[in-house]
Amino acid sequence: MNFLDRKKILLIICGGIAAYKALEVIRLIKKNGAQVKTVLTENAKKFVTPLSVVSLSQEKVYTQLFDHENEAEMDHISLSRWADLILIAPATANTISKLSYGLADDLATTVTLASNKKIFLAPAMNVRMWEHKSNKDNIQKLKTFGYEMIGPNIGDMACGEYGEGKMSEPTEILNYLNQYFKKLKNVNKKRAIVTAGPTQEFIDPVRYITNRSSGKQGFEIANSLNRNGFDTTLISGPSNQIADPNIKLIKVKTAEEMYEETLNNLPADVAVFSAAVGDWKIKNYNKNKIKKKDNLVLNLEKNIDILNNVSNHNSLRPKLVIGFAAETMNLELNAKNKLTEKNCDWIIANDISKKDIGFESNENSVSIFYKNQDFEEIKKTSKSNLADKIVERIINHLN
Ligand code: CTP
Repeated sequence: MNFLDRKKILLIICGGIAAYKALEVIRLIKKNGAQVKTVLTENAKKFVTPLSVVSLSQEKVYTQLFDHENEAEMDHISLSRWADLILIAPATANTISKLSYGLADDLATTVTLASNKKIFLAPAMNVRMWEHKSNKDNIQKLKTFGYEMIGPNIGDMACGEYGEGKMSEPTEILNYLNQYFKKLKNVNKKRAIVTAGPTQEFIDPVRYITNRSSGKQGFEIANSLNRNGFDTTLISGPSNQIADPNIKLIKVKTAEEMYEETLNNLPADVAVFSAAVGDWKIKNYNKNKIKKKDNLVLNLEKNIDILNNVSNHNSLRPKLVIGFAAETMNLELNAKNKLTEKNCDWIIANDISKKDIGFESNENSVSIFYKNQDFEEIKKTSKSNLADKIVERIINHLN
């Protein structure tokens, strides 16, 4: 079945001999009813002409980063906003390297780096370049950003050598894009709720107790759910992370507010409870600022457990309820206990005694404990890549 109909694809063509195959990619995209706008790098123009691209795509072709005509009509930011996905084909070693270092020195790299859409790359290069450690490292890094590779294939190359590095065939690329839109269609209209960040439990108008949490992992999960087509609500305690613009972001402070907003935004198909909710609140909140005359003894009482209440709710329980467990010891035992005690479908557990992961770090490694199957470990990776892996499992489960 064709899932490309009326989709918007931004094709970036880089300068390599495989660029000629990109023309066939344009033809196939159009044939399947999608719209395609094309960016050509300076070197790409040596392999394919803007005129052939315009004729095939029936759209203007974009080549310059600073072009007064384009800027008035569609600048690099609008171009990446316009697209449902970005396809870089062929992706040369040079562009791959620039993207992995965040170098934005032309329209192709600027548009890609400015985008929060799905990005596919179809690499094409000589086998030695493909196998070079530096290229391998760059590819690895791009994968941690959530970029997806199509190919390359093994075969005879234009340079006379044989090996891995040939760009995938246009029909293979089309098939990949079609599968991606098919997956999106399946999750479209599905609703997700994510809780993130710490809560603040107030002692008096100026003081509070809180938990250590940047909110980064939760925001990454919400962003990935949104990228993958979920209608996403993110309920977050104080955090300076940035949510994608079409996520419904609700800012709260206390656990009680977080609970209330969670209920207000149910039902949902999946709920991910990544917030570090304060386990206790102050028993007698002081309306006036407490004066520092003497030592202060705080009287704390247990806070509402948001996850537990939602997972045991008789009418509003989402189909898939996922909790987190931050543990300093007995990870497996504690996670499995939380799984049953909190009536979750999955518990995602991380060992917060490890120094280089969790909390303020950009990386994380977790174990996912499932209700009805063996647990699995996801090795240390960026929080954004980890979020994509979790969301991939959510989609598979809901499908
Ligand atoms: N959680 C929640 N509401 C709370 C406490 C926790 O929704 N009041 C959720 C967290 O968002 C997380 C899971 O419950 O998904 C486990 O949180 P964690 O703090 O690890 O467990 P606790 O139940 O608080 O147990 P403990 O602190 O004793 O380990």
